[in-house]
Amino acid sequence: MVKPVVILNLKSYKEVLGENGLKALTIIEDVAKEYPQITFVVAPNLTCLSEFARRKKRVKVYAQHADPIPVGAYTGHIPVEALKILKADGTLINHSERQVSFDIISRVISEAQRLQIDVVACGGSIDEISKIAALRPKYVAFEPPELIGTGISVSKARPEDLKKSVKVILERSGNISIPICGAGISSGEDVRLALEYGANGILVASAFVKATDKKKKLIEFASAAESAVY
Ligand code: G3P
Repeated sequence: MVKPVVILNLKSYKEVLGENGLKALTIIEDVAKEYPQITFVVAPNLTCLSEFARRKKRVKVYAQHADPIPVGAYTGHIPVEALKILKADGTLINHSERQVSFDIISRVISEAQRLQIDVVACGGSIDEISKIAALRPKYVAFEPPELIGTGISVSKARPEDLKKSVKVILERSGNISIPICGAGISSGEDVRLALEYGANGILVASAFVKATDKKKKLIEFASAAESAVY
């Protein structure tokens, strides 16, 4: 079994920008040390990406978005190769808060595959993730947009669709892509159910960022994910 992944998307939340973002990275590194059976990923705001990439130890650092353009005269873009140069480990693409066309998803995945960095390609419906899975990114994330930030998890609110997403991702990618899910995940129980339904990891944002004790919340997620391994 591939190690379950816990991906913390820090979005543009004020609580995790600048110095506070670096404090969050320290927390994630501390927890990662205690849970070697779990892959931890953080996707900081782009303004913090370089510093995160410089400081990371066990934790992987992904961009929240990338553009399928070469390095060169492209103002305001994020070339995949720039992420590689920065020593970022991967990127999200097509998050529901940063949607792009299928053509762009496809080109970002190819460029990332060429440069050997990871891609988490997100989709909000079974139909969308089915098309994306055929491109065989490392991870395909099922994230129903209406549940994002609600505290009502995809695993509790949409169990049948979650199971269907896992099946579709595995079938359409020829067992290459790893199915994961996100939206509203707030408790260890949400994580446990997600893994029980076949996802091999989770994407989470607000429950971690807004937690009064981020370390405690992350340990709750990690120990639920770990219990699925043993
Ligand atoms: O990328 C993760 C995300 O969109 C889920 O957000 O706040 O529901 O955990 P949240």
